[in-house]
Amino acid sequence: MKIKPFKLERYYTINEFSAKYSLCNSDCEAMTIKDLLALEKGASEKFENLWLGYTETKGHPELRQNVADIYTNIKADDILICTGAQEPIYLFSKANLKEEDEVIVQTPCYQSVQSVPESIGCKVLNWDVKYEKDIPVFDIEELEKLITNKTKVIYLNTPHNPTGFHFSIKEQESIIKIARKHNIIIFCDEVYREIEHSPEYTIPAFADVYENGVSVSVMSKAYGLPGLRIGWIITKNKSILNNVAILKEYTTICNAGPSEFLAGVALRNRQTILKRNLGIIKSNLSLYEEFFNKYKEFFTWYKPNSGPIAFVKMNFDKDDMAFAKKVLEEQKVLLLPGGIYDYEGYFRIGFGRTIMPEALRQFEIFVKQNLVKV
Ligand SMILES: Cc1ncc(COP(=O)(O)O)c(C=O)c1O
Repeated sequence: MKIKPFKLERYYTINEFSAKYSLCNSDCEAMTIKDLLALEKGASEKFENLWLGYTETKGHPELRQNVADIYTNIKADDILICTGAQEPIYLFSKANLKEEDEVIVQTPCYQSVQSVPESIGCKVLNWDVKYEKDIPVFDIEELEKLITNKTKVIYLNTPHNPTGFHFSIKEQESIIKIARKHNIIIFCDEVYREIEHSPEYTIPAFADVYENGVSVSVMSKAYGLPGLRIGWIITKNKSILNNVAILKEYTTICNAGPSEFLAGVALRNRQTILKRNLGIIKSNLSLYEEFFNKYKEFFTWYKPNSGPIAFVKMNFDKDDMAFAKKVLEEQKVLLLPGGIYDYEGYFRIGFGRTIMPEALRQFEIFVKQNLVKV
């Protein structure tokens, strides 16, 4: 079956670089190569002398060890380095699913976890968010009801894009118990892991605590280095990892050597980078708190405990696509409308970037001119 266009990525391709003020980015502030290399003594000289030949298809052993160091039970051999998070999401489904399989997807979602299984011919069931007193929740009893004897994979994403929801450790344990009972793979997109707003919200990677758990992460979000296009897929299940590795030889074969080198520098210094990014997040979050307090008549937001994004409910209208278009045309501020996720009446905002205070100022001008009645 033909794969559907990726609505969110289409939206960014068209708007991201022409909008003056982006208020909806899902990554943390990036940095220059020079600033990154300055984090490690001797890195600059090593980078200049890097050999630009082909690299190991699995990823450089040193980089795989740097990735393994983020986790508890994961070894370098349980890891495949890939291009961003998008490549392993695509490859995992293509390499491990058959037409007759069913999958369950935590929704709204990053579209590839829905569209790739659909393109294989799988039946895709949605495990939808519910808002209880404006707080996003995922009902685990409902998840269990969606399981049949054909269910092969449960696709999760925590911290969650776009709602900002994050599973507690108890919820994680319950989901793993259910998956284990039914012998189901859990695929968890963990691209916002390690940017919890306080250490108490950190939960283990699914691949670290479940034998059929697969976790994907990336340099793009918490570490703010999307330009490297370095991500990874990890699992203790050798057959799943091998299937992905074999298919990768049809997509990118191996990764960009300079990017692998720079990702290694960043990961060895990740606490410094995370501290800086968390500082930006906390300062931006306080501005949103003030803003949403002031304009609660028009907007309701859920303040997340992890990650750099939140989902905002519009109390004055449901047409998020038209609203985002008007905000972009009149004030050059980019919002991500809920319609992109097939979720009406909401829009996504980000708070990992240093442009955010200015973008919020511009958005407030729009709100005053268009929503506030004088
Ligand atoms: C939840 C989620 N997963 C995966 C990706 C893809 O990450 P990358 O652009 O690094 O491939 C994104 C990017 O927006 C995302 O938000």
